[in-house]
Amino acid sequence: ETKPRTPVLWLHGLECTCCSESFIRSAHPLTKDVVLSMLSLDYDDTLMAAAGHQAEAILDEIRKKYKGNYILAVEGNPPLNEDGMFAIQGGRPFVEKLRETAADCKAIISWGSCASWGCVQAAKPNPTRATPVHKVITDKPIVKVPGCPPIAEVMTAVVTYMLTFDKLPELDRMGRPKMFYGQRIHDKCYRRPHFDAGQFAEAWDDEGSRKGYCLYKMGCKGPTTYNACSTVRWNEGVSWPVQSGHGCIGCSEDGFWDKGSFYDRV
Ligand code: SF4
Ligand code: SF4
Ligand code: F3S
Repeated sequence: ETKPRTPVLWLHGLECTCCSESFIRSAHPLTKDVVLSMLSLDYDDTLMAAAGHQAEAILDEIRKKYKGNYILAVEGNPPLNEDGMFAIQGGRPFVEKLRETAADCKAIISWGSCASWGCVQAAKPNPTRATPVHKVITDKPIVKVPGCPPIAEVMTAVVTYMLTFDKLPELDRMGRPKMFYGQRIHDKCYRRPHFDAGQFAEAWDDEGSRKGYCLYKMGCKGPTTYNACSTVRWNEGVSWPVQSGHGCIGCSEDGFWDKGSFYDRV
Protein backbone atom coordinates (compact mmCIF):
# COMPACT_ATOMS: atom_id res chain seq x y z
CA GLU A 1 0.00 0.00 0.00
CA THR A 2 2.93 2.31 0.57
CA LYS A 3 4.62 1.44 -2.73
CA PRO A 4 4.57 4.40 -5.14
CA ARG A 5 2.24 3.79 -8.07
CA THR A 6 3.94 3.10 -11.39
CA PRO A 7 3.53 6.00 -13.82
CA VAL A 8 1.85 5.14 -17.12
CA LEU A 9 2.03 7.42 -20.14
CA TRP A 10 -0.71 6.58 -22.68
CA LEU A 11 -0.19 7.92 -26.19
CA HIS A 12 -2.64 7.98 -29.10
CA GLY A 13 -1.50 7.75 -32.71
CA LEU A 14 -3.65 6.92 -35.74
CA GLU A 15 -6.63 5.21 -34.14
CA CYS A 16 -10.37 5.46 -33.41
CA THR A 17 -10.16 5.60 -29.55
CA CYS A 18 -12.39 2.54 -29.11
CA CYS A 19 -9.54 0.77 -27.31
CA SER A 20 -9.95 3.47 -24.64
CA GLU A 21 -13.72 3.06 -24.85
CA SER A 22 -13.27 -0.64 -24.16
CA PHE A 23 -10.74 -0.08 -21.35
CA ILE A 24 -13.00 2.23 -19.35
CA ARG A 25 -15.69 -0.48 -19.24
CA SER A 26 -13.69 -3.11 -17.39
CA ALA A 27 -15.65 -4.75 -14.56
CA HIS A 28 -12.99 -7.09 -13.10
CA PRO A 29 -11.01 -5.18 -12.02
CA LEU A 30 -12.99 -1.96 -12.26
CA THR A 31 -11.21 0.62 -14.41
CA LYS A 32 -11.51 3.23 -11.67
CA ASP A 33 -9.58 0.97 -9.29
CA VAL A 34 -6.87 0.40 -11.90
CA VAL A 35 -6.54 4.08 -12.76
CA LEU A 36 -6.98 5.58 -9.30
CA SER A 37 -5.36 2.99 -7.03
CA MET A 38 -3.07 0.67 -8.95
CA LEU A 39 -1.23 2.83 -11.46
CA SER A 40 -0.62 6.50 -11.91
CA LEU A 41 -2.05 7.47 -15.29
CA ASP A 42 -0.06 10.67 -15.62
CA TYR A 43 -0.67 11.32 -19.29
CA ASP A 44 -3.50 10.23 -21.56
CA ASP A 45 -4.61 12.88 -24.01
CA THR A 46 -8.16 11.52 -24.16
CA LEU A 47 -8.75 10.96 -20.43
CA MET A 48 -6.74 13.69 -18.70
CA ALA A 49 -8.15 17.04 -17.59
CA ALA A 50 -5.15 19.02 -18.83
CA ALA A 51 -4.86 20.02 -22.49
CA GLY A 52 -2.49 21.77 -24.86
CA HIS A 53 0.86 23.01 -23.53
CA GLN A 54 -0.09 22.05 -19.97
CA ALA A 55 -0.58 18.41 -21.01
CA GLU A 56 2.64 18.27 -23.03
CA ALA A 57 4.54 19.75 -20.05
CA ILE A 58 3.30 16.88 -17.86
CA LEU A 59 4.51 14.36 -20.43
CA ASP A 60 7.92 15.97 -20.41
CA GLU A 61 8.08 16.15 -16.62
CA ILE A 62 7.11 12.49 -16.01
CA ARG A 63 9.46 11.27 -18.74
CA LYS A 64 12.42 12.98 -17.06
CA LYS A 65 11.43 12.37 -13.43
CA TYR A 66 10.75 8.65 -13.85
CA LYS A 67 13.38 7.85 -16.45
CA GLY A 68 13.50 4.08 -16.98
CA ASN A 69 10.61 3.47 -14.59
CA TYR A 70 7.39 4.28 -16.43
CA ILE A 71 5.24 2.13 -18.67
CA LEU A 72 4.38 3.46 -22.11
CA ALA A 73 0.94 2.45 -23.39
CA VAL A 74 0.28 3.14 -27.06
CA GLU A 75 -3.11 3.16 -28.74
CA GLY A 76 -2.88 3.57 -32.50
CA ASN A 77 0.24 3.76 -34.58
CA PRO A 78 2.55 6.27 -36.23
CA PRO A 79 2.11 7.01 -39.94
CA LEU A 80 5.57 7.34 -41.47
CA ASN A 81 4.85 8.75 -44.93
CA GLU A 82 5.77 12.35 -45.65
CA ASP A 83 7.87 12.58 -42.47
CA GLY A 84 4.93 11.62 -40.27
CA MET A 85 2.77 14.55 -41.35
CA PHE A 86 -0.45 12.51 -41.25
CA ALA A 87 -0.55 12.65 -37.43
CA ILE A 88 0.56 15.91 -35.89
CA GLN A 89 0.38 16.40 -32.12
CA GLY A 90 1.59 19.51 -30.32
CA GLY A 91 2.92 20.77 -33.64
CA ARG A 92 5.14 17.79 -34.43
CA PRO A 93 4.75 14.33 -35.97
CA PHE A 94 3.39 11.68 -33.62
CA VAL A 95 6.28 9.38 -34.49
CA GLU A 96 8.70 11.88 -32.88
CA LYS A 97 6.64 11.96 -29.70
CA LEU A 98 6.51 8.16 -29.70
CA ARG A 99 10.27 7.76 -30.14
CA GLU A 100 11.01 10.35 -27.45
CA THR A 101 8.59 8.84 -24.92
CA ALA A 102 9.73 5.28 -25.67
CA ALA A 103 13.42 6.12 -25.20
CA ASP A 104 13.22 6.12 -21.37
CA CYS A 105 10.33 3.76 -20.70
CA LYS A 106 10.56 0.42 -18.93
CA ALA A 107 8.21 -1.43 -21.26
CA ILE A 108 5.56 -0.78 -23.89
CA ILE A 109 2.00 -2.00 -24.15
CA SER A 110 0.66 -1.93 -27.71
CA TRP A 111 -3.09 -1.60 -27.26
CA GLY A 112 -5.29 -3.03 -29.95
CA SER A 113 -4.76 -4.05 -33.53
CA CYS A 114 -3.71 -0.52 -34.59
CA ALA A 115 -0.65 -0.48 -32.35
CA SER A 116 0.00 -4.22 -32.69
CA TRP A 117 -0.47 -4.74 -36.42
CA GLY A 118 -1.45 -1.54 -38.23
CA CYS A 119 -5.20 -2.23 -38.57
CA VAL A 120 -7.63 -0.62 -41.01
CA GLN A 121 -5.60 2.54 -41.59
CA ALA A 122 -2.79 0.28 -42.85
CA ALA A 123 -5.14 -1.36 -45.38
CA LYS A 124 -3.69 -1.60 -48.88
CA PRO A 125 -2.34 0.64 -50.32
CA ASN A 126 -1.71 2.14 -46.86
CA PRO A 127 -1.38 5.74 -48.10
CA THR A 128 -0.05 7.15 -44.81
CA ARG A 129 2.31 4.18 -44.20
CA ALA A 130 0.65 3.44 -40.87
CA THR A 131 3.21 1.25 -39.08
CA PRO A 132 2.84 -0.91 -35.96
CA VAL A 133 4.75 0.21 -32.88
CA HIS A 134 7.21 -2.71 -32.77
CA LYS A 135 8.48 -1.81 -36.25
CA VAL A 136 9.40 1.68 -35.06
CA ILE A 137 10.58 0.96 -31.51
CA THR A 138 12.88 -2.03 -31.59
CA ASP A 139 14.90 -1.74 -28.38
CA LYS A 140 12.18 -2.09 -25.71
CA PRO A 141 10.14 -5.01 -24.41
CA ILE A 142 6.68 -4.83 -26.00
CA VAL A 143 3.52 -6.67 -25.07
CA LYS A 144 0.90 -6.70 -27.81
CA VAL A 145 -2.76 -6.76 -26.78
CA PRO A 146 -4.49 -7.01 -30.17
CA GLY A 147 -8.18 -6.81 -30.95
CA CYS A 148 -10.28 -4.09 -32.47
CA PRO A 149 -10.70 -3.26 -29.68
CA PRO A 150 -9.22 -5.68 -27.13
CA ILE A 151 -11.56 -7.00 -24.41
CA ALA A 152 -11.73 -4.59 -21.46
CA GLU A 153 -10.87 -7.20 -18.84
CA VAL A 154 -7.95 -8.44 -20.92
CA MET A 155 -6.55 -4.89 -20.99
CA THR A 156 -6.88 -4.31 -17.25
CA ALA A 157 -5.61 -7.82 -16.48
CA VAL A 158 -2.44 -7.24 -18.50
CA VAL A 159 -1.79 -3.97 -16.67
CA THR A 160 -2.56 -5.59 -13.31
CA TYR A 161 -0.13 -8.42 -14.04
CA MET A 162 2.65 -6.03 -15.02
CA LEU A 163 2.17 -3.89 -11.91
CA THR A 164 1.83 -6.83 -9.54
CA PHE A 165 4.78 -8.89 -10.74
CA ASP A 166 6.87 -6.07 -12.19
CA LYS A 167 7.45 -8.04 -15.39
CA LEU A 168 5.77 -8.81 -18.68
CA PRO A 169 3.33 -11.72 -18.79
CA GLU A 170 4.50 -14.79 -20.70
CA LEU A 171 4.23 -13.98 -24.40
CA ASP A 172 3.73 -16.15 -27.47
CA ARG A 173 6.00 -15.90 -30.53
CA MET A 174 3.94 -12.94 -31.81
CA GLY A 175 4.40 -11.00 -28.54
CA ARG A 176 0.88 -11.57 -27.17
CA PRO A 177 0.15 -12.69 -23.58
CA LYS A 178 -0.34 -16.46 -23.72
CA MET A 179 -2.94 -16.38 -20.98
CA PHE A 180 -5.41 -14.56 -23.26
CA TYR A 181 -4.19 -15.35 -26.77
CA GLY A 182 -3.13 -18.97 -26.32
CA GLN A 183 -6.29 -20.45 -27.84
CA ARG A 184 -8.38 -19.88 -30.93
CA ILE A 185 -11.94 -18.57 -30.70
CA HIS A 186 -12.99 -21.86 -32.30
CA ASP A 187 -11.40 -23.96 -29.52
CA LYS A 188 -13.87 -22.79 -26.87
CA CYS A 189 -16.82 -21.62 -28.99
CA TYR A 190 -20.16 -22.84 -27.63
CA ARG A 191 -21.28 -23.50 -31.26
CA ARG A 192 -18.39 -25.94 -31.74
CA PRO A 193 -20.59 -29.05 -31.26
CA HIS A 194 -22.59 -27.91 -34.32
CA PHE A 195 -19.35 -27.53 -36.29
CA ASP A 196 -18.29 -31.02 -35.27
CA ALA A 197 -21.72 -32.37 -36.23
CA GLY A 198 -21.62 -30.67 -39.64
CA GLN A 199 -24.54 -28.35 -38.78
CA PHE A 200 -24.00 -24.96 -40.42
CA ALA A 201 -26.04 -21.81 -40.97
CA GLU A 202 -26.13 -21.20 -44.75
CA ALA A 203 -27.88 -17.80 -44.64
CA TRP A 204 -28.38 -15.17 -41.92
CA ASP A 205 -32.09 -15.91 -41.70
CA ASP A 206 -32.28 -19.64 -42.39
CA GLU A 207 -33.41 -22.37 -40.04
CA GLY A 208 -29.78 -23.21 -39.10
CA SER A 209 -29.17 -19.59 -38.11
CA ARG A 210 -32.26 -19.61 -35.90
CA LYS A 211 -31.12 -22.84 -34.27
CA GLY A 212 -27.70 -21.39 -33.46
CA TYR A 213 -25.72 -23.58 -35.85
CA CYS A 214 -22.05 -22.93 -36.59
CA LEU A 215 -21.32 -19.75 -38.59
CA TYR A 216 -18.27 -21.10 -40.43
CA LYS A 217 -20.04 -21.13 -43.81
CA MET A 218 -21.07 -17.50 -43.21
CA GLY A 219 -17.41 -16.49 -43.02
CA CYS A 220 -16.62 -16.97 -39.31
CA LYS A 221 -12.85 -16.62 -38.76
CA GLY A 222 -12.93 -18.27 -35.31
CA PRO A 223 -10.82 -21.25 -36.46
CA THR A 224 -7.86 -18.98 -37.26
CA THR A 225 -8.25 -16.27 -34.61
CA TYR A 226 -6.40 -16.19 -31.31
CA ASN A 227 -8.33 -14.24 -28.68
CA ALA A 228 -10.31 -14.77 -25.46
CA CYS A 229 -13.80 -13.77 -26.69
CA SER A 230 -15.30 -17.25 -26.42
CA THR A 231 -14.14 -17.58 -22.80
CA VAL A 232 -13.94 -14.07 -21.25
CA ARG A 233 -16.65 -12.64 -23.56
CA TRP A 234 -17.69 -8.98 -23.71
CA ASN A 235 -19.69 -6.49 -21.64
CA GLU A 236 -19.01 -8.16 -18.29
CA GLY A 237 -19.31 -11.59 -19.87
CA VAL A 238 -22.79 -10.94 -21.29
CA SER A 239 -22.13 -11.84 -24.94
CA TRP A 240 -19.65 -11.80 -27.83
CA PRO A 241 -19.82 -11.59 -31.64
CA VAL A 242 -20.65 -15.25 -32.34
CA GLN A 243 -23.23 -15.32 -29.54
CA SER A 244 -24.93 -12.30 -31.08
CA GLY A 245 -25.29 -14.25 -34.33
CA HIS A 246 -22.42 -12.72 -36.29
CA GLY A 247 -19.28 -14.66 -37.14
CA CYS A 248 -15.88 -13.64 -35.80
CA ILE A 249 -14.09 -11.35 -38.30
CA GLY A 250 -10.69 -12.12 -36.78
CA CYS A 251 -10.19 -8.58 -35.45
CA SER A 252 -7.21 -9.56 -33.29
CA GLU A 253 -5.23 -11.13 -36.15
CA ASP A 254 -2.50 -9.45 -38.15
CA GLY A 255 -3.76 -8.34 -41.57
CA PHE A 256 -7.43 -9.20 -40.88
CA TRP A 257 -8.48 -6.03 -42.72
CA ASP A 258 -6.91 -7.15 -46.02
CA LYS A 259 -7.64 -10.88 -45.91
CA GLY A 260 -10.64 -10.85 -48.22
CA SER A 261 -14.20 -10.10 -47.22
CA PHE A 262 -15.40 -10.58 -43.64
CA TYR A 263 -18.34 -12.39 -45.21
CA ASP A 264 -16.50 -14.70 -47.58
CA ARG A 265 -18.35 -17.98 -47.52
CA VAL A 266 -16.66 -21.31 -47.44
FE1 SF4 B 1 -9.96 1.61 -32.75
FE2 SF4 B 1 -9.55 -0.91 -33.41
FE3 SF4 B 1 -7.54 0.79 -33.44
FE4 SF4 B 1 -8.53 0.06 -31.11
S1 SF4 B 1 -7.49 -1.28 -32.57
S2 SF4 B 1 -8.05 2.18 -31.73
S3 SF4 B 1 -10.70 -0.19 -31.63
S4 SF4 B 1 -9.37 0.88 -34.80
FE1 SF4 C 1 -15.86 -22.11 -34.89
FE2 SF4 C 1 -17.07 -19.87 -35.70
FE3 SF4 C 1 -18.35 -22.17 -35.80
FE4 SF4 C 1 -17.83 -21.05 -33.44
S1 SF4 C 1 -19.20 -20.24 -35.04
S2 SF4 C 1 -17.59 -23.21 -33.98
S3 SF4 C 1 -15.81 -20.13 -33.86
S4 SF4 C 1 -16.50 -21.61 -36.99
FE1 F3S D 1 -12.85 -9.82 -32.66
FE2 F3S D 1 -13.58 -12.28 -33.30
FE3 F3S D 1 -13.52 -11.54 -30.80
S1 F3S D 1 -14.13 -10.40 -34.36
S2 F3S D 1 -14.08 -9.41 -30.88
S3 F3S D 1 -11.77 -11.70 -32.17
S4 F3S D 1 -14.98 -12.93 -31.73
